Amino acid sequence: MTTELCVALDGSDRDWILRRAEEIAEITQWIKIGLEAFTAFGPELVRQLSAMGPRLFLDLKFHDIPNTVAGAVSNSVGPEIGLINVHASGGAAMMRAAADALKETGAETKLIAVTVLTSLDEGELSRLGIEFPSAELVRSWAGLSRECGLHGVVTSPKEIRVVREACGEDFLIVTPGIRPTWAAENDQRRVMTPAEARREGADILVIGRPITRAAQPREAALRIAEEICG
Ligand code: C5P
Repeated sequence: MTTELCVALDGSDRDWILRRAEEIAEITQWIKIGLEAFTAFGPELVRQLSAMGPRLFLDLKFHDIPNTVAGAVSNSVGPEIGLINVHASGGAAMMRAAADALKETGAETKLIAVTVLTSLDEGELSRLGIEFPSAELVRSWAGLSRECGLHGVVTSPKEIRVVREACGEDFLIVTPGIRPTWAAENDQRRVMTPAEARREGADILVIGRPITRAAQPREAALRIAEEICG
C-alpha cells in the first residue's frame, strides 16, 4: 500500500498560494484547495493550479439538502479534480444524492465524507446532543458513507484503524491532523506523525502549515515525503 501526500494551501493571498504550489508541485501528489482559498478566488484558482501537475482535492465539505448537494457535486467535478467531499452528518439521502450525481457526470473524481470534525471533542459533541464516543460515531458514519456509494472518508489519524476494520481495504482514508516531530502542533490536537499515520494505514495525508508556513517549504515537503516513503 502506498501513502500519498496532499498539501493544504490555505490562504487568502493568491500570489502566495501560487508561489507555494510551484515550490511543492514536483514533490506532492495532491494539492488541497479549501474554503478559504475557494471563496476568495473560485474556479479560476482551480484552473491555475490544475496546470501545475499534482491532482486537486476540492475540500468544500458540502452539507445541505440532497438536491442542492447533488447540484454542487455536478458543478465541482472535472478532469483536474481528483477528490471532493461532503459531510457524513448531512445524512444518507444527501450522500446517496451526491454519489448518484457524481456517477451521472461519468467523471473519475472520488467522493469522500467528512466524519467527525477533528475540532469537535467529546464535550462539544455532547453540547450538540451527541453522546457517543467519537470513535463509535466515526465507525458508524464511515460505514454509512460506504453503503451510500462514497469512495472513502476524511478522518482523524486516531480513527484510521476503526475505519479500516469497518470499511475494508479498498476504502479511501484521507487524514489531516498530521505533524512531523519537528513542527508545531498549531491548533491541531490529536495528531500523529507522517510515519505513524502511514503505519496505521492512511491512503492520503493532508498537511498544511508544517509545509506552507515553514521557512523553507520545499525542504519541509521533501522531508515529509521521505518520511512517508520510509
Ligand atoms: O495546517 P494543517 O496541517 O493543520 O491543515 C490541515 C488541513 O486539513 C486544513 O486545510 C483543514 O481545513 C483540513 N481539515 C482538518 N480537520 C478536518 C478536516 C479538514 O484539519 N477534520
